[in-house]
Amino acid sequence: MAAQAGRVAVVTGANSGIGLVAARELARKGARVVLAVRAAARGEEAAAAIRQEAPGAQVEVLPLDLTRLASVREAAAALAARHPRVHLLVNNAGVMAVPRSTTADGFELQLGTNHLGHFALTGLLLPLLVAAGRDGAPARVVSVSSNAHKFGRIRFDDLMGERRYTRWGAYGQSKLANLLFTLELERRARAAGLPLLAAACHPGYAATNLTRAFGTWLPSLPNRLLAQPAHMGALPTLYAATAPDVQGGDYVGPGGFLEQRGYPKKVGTTAAARDAEVARRLWEVSEDLTGVRYAFAS
Ligand SMILES: NC(=O)c1ccc[n+]([C@@H]2O[C@H](COP(=O)([O-])OP(=O)(O)OC[C@H]3O[C@@H](n4cnc5c(N)ncnc54)[C@H](OP(=O)(O)O)[C@@H]3O)[C@@H](O)[C@H]2O)c1
Repeated sequence: MAAQAGRVAVVTGANSGIGLVAARELARKGARVVLAVRAAARGEEAAAAIRQEAPGAQVEVLPLDLTRLASVREAAAALAARHPRVHLLVNNAGVMAVPRSTTADGFELQLGTNHLGHFALTGLLLPLLVAAGRDGAPARVVSVSSNAHKFGRIRFDDLMGERRYTRWGAYGQSKLANLLFTLELERRARAAGLPLLAAACHPGYAATNLTRAFGTWLPSLPNRLLAQPAHMGALPTLYAATAPDVQGGDYVGPGGFLEQRGYPKKVGTTAAARDAEVARRLWEVSEDLTGVRYAFAS
């Protein structure tokens, strides 16, 4: 990874798993890293751990709860007050296969956290990203999707799973939404001539806290036998965030068996993820639901 000095990076969900490793490694390379986390205490613990492992690391904590649009707006305003430019936004935080519940704004929890919260955050940070991009290399927005996007479907007739809900169906929908969002953001940024690059990544199967919805014992065996460590799972994120050969719309995942493990490479998406009409419709629905409208004028 090239030196990151002089760059401001925001990583959501940076207190755990892939986000923690990505934040630490960006900080080790000299970026000023904002840990955007829902529990300030867990954020401070992560910041202390990063400072210990990477002496001199510049890290700061930003409270952000993606299940509350009010919190997303507060976080964006607090960030703008501290940093006029943001060079990298990593939309990493997520929940997986949880029982049905809703966010403070009434969204199904997985779509609300994984997609809508990040959709709102990115839109609110757009001026800071564009300001950074105007100074040099295009700013980057990297969204963490999943192999689960492959079985996802955007159910416009029941987006919030009110009539029919399955834990994995809702997760797949939210992770497909991450990719549709990335490709639509890239198209819109290009059309507006903005200095912004949108890319996506997925970690394969990595041992993190993501499986906590299943209790403590169930995932521990497969995690130990099959999953790669979090530091390997973070490599696609770091590649998408920093590698010079990444282009808008690229998707990066592990290069090993079934993209479950290994070193990162550019990987493919399903045709559903590249459906520009679904992406446009999801974008409009997301603007309506969140009330965040992107300021694309260049
Ligand atoms: N691990 C895998 O095998 C795998 C596979 C495919 C995709 N992914 C994706 O990778 C990303 C990172 O997951 P991980 O595996 O590193 O899991 P993790 O260790 O559970 O980390 C998830 C992070 O998201 C945060 N988060 C959850 N809800 C939030 C909210 N409402 N507001 C703000 N932050 C919130 C968590 O905060 P708390 O600690 O406070 O809960 C935690 O920091 C996710 O997008 C996930 O879908 C992971």
